[in-house]
Amino acid sequence: MPQLVQSLGELRRALSTLREKKPGSIGLIPTMGALHQGHLQLVGAAADCDIRVLSIFANPLQFADLGECDDYRNYPRQLDQDLALLEGSVDLVFAPSVEEMYPHGVPDIWVRSGRMGEILEGASRPGHFDGVVTVVAKLFNLVQPDYAFFGEKDAQQLAIIRRMVEDLNFPVEIVAVPIVRSAEGLAQSSRNARLSAKGKQQALALSRAVKALSADPGAIDRVSEQLSAAPGVSLDYLKVVGEDLSEDSEPALVLCAAWVEGVRLLDAAPLE
Ligand code: PAF
Repeated sequence: MPQLVQSLGELRRALSTLREKKPGSIGLIPTMGALHQGHLQLVGAAADCDIRVLSIFANPLQFADLGECDDYRNYPRQLDQDLALLEGSVDLVFAPSVEEMYPHGVPDIWVRSGRMGEILEGASRPGHFDGVVTVVAKLFNLVQPDYAFFGEKDAQQLAIIRRMVEDLNFPVEIVAVPIVRSAEGLAQSSRNARLSAKGKQQALALSRAVKALSADPGAIDRVSEQLSAAPGVSLDYLKVVGEDLSEDSEPALVLCAAWVEGVRLLDAAPLE
């Protein structure tokens, strides 16, 4: 089992011991727990770091009503299972309580994600990305990583965190880890388990659209029409945007969100 620390003091001591033993780079993999294959992909990407720290913290600030919601209350918490999965692949697991992270309750001082956090996913989840960048900034301050690993699947989150690092001058390199896909192209997500075999087939329309646009972003109108007409797919958005998530900037990313069988699915890809 990797070493588990749950308080800020324990984290500081464990990091200083590890730094003495293994001077070199620190890699941070921030998660909210309930680890799956996608997280292990992030862990694998951190393999070259001398010290690998994985954080597990279901952050109430990024849920509706600052965590006063069923989505947060029912969020799977399975620390023992997560630790068993991480055997041999990270040095330290930081799994603080809410009181440890937010000792004064909801913090007075936040990081704001601004325009980038208000559009796309942020339009249906007001305040979500402010909660994300606030906790990620705290984790960067606590762990002081050289590298931090985030999945390309949450492309908007990744773009916003990259911008935070630039705007606030965090001395950390953000590493984007590609989406794990099924042989047919379906982006891996814990939500796929809620799809029937037919739903999984229908959901392939998302990855086809994202792939087509990453090769030819100019085809946005045709591909959007095709995806809107795809059986079983209810499209929320399909966009080609720049690194600042604006449709007016140099195209860099394709982002897609749609419902299949009532399950909200995301897909994304950098332009080829
Ligand atoms: O992607 C996630 O799991 C979360 O948004 C993150 C980055 C761990 C912040 O709570």
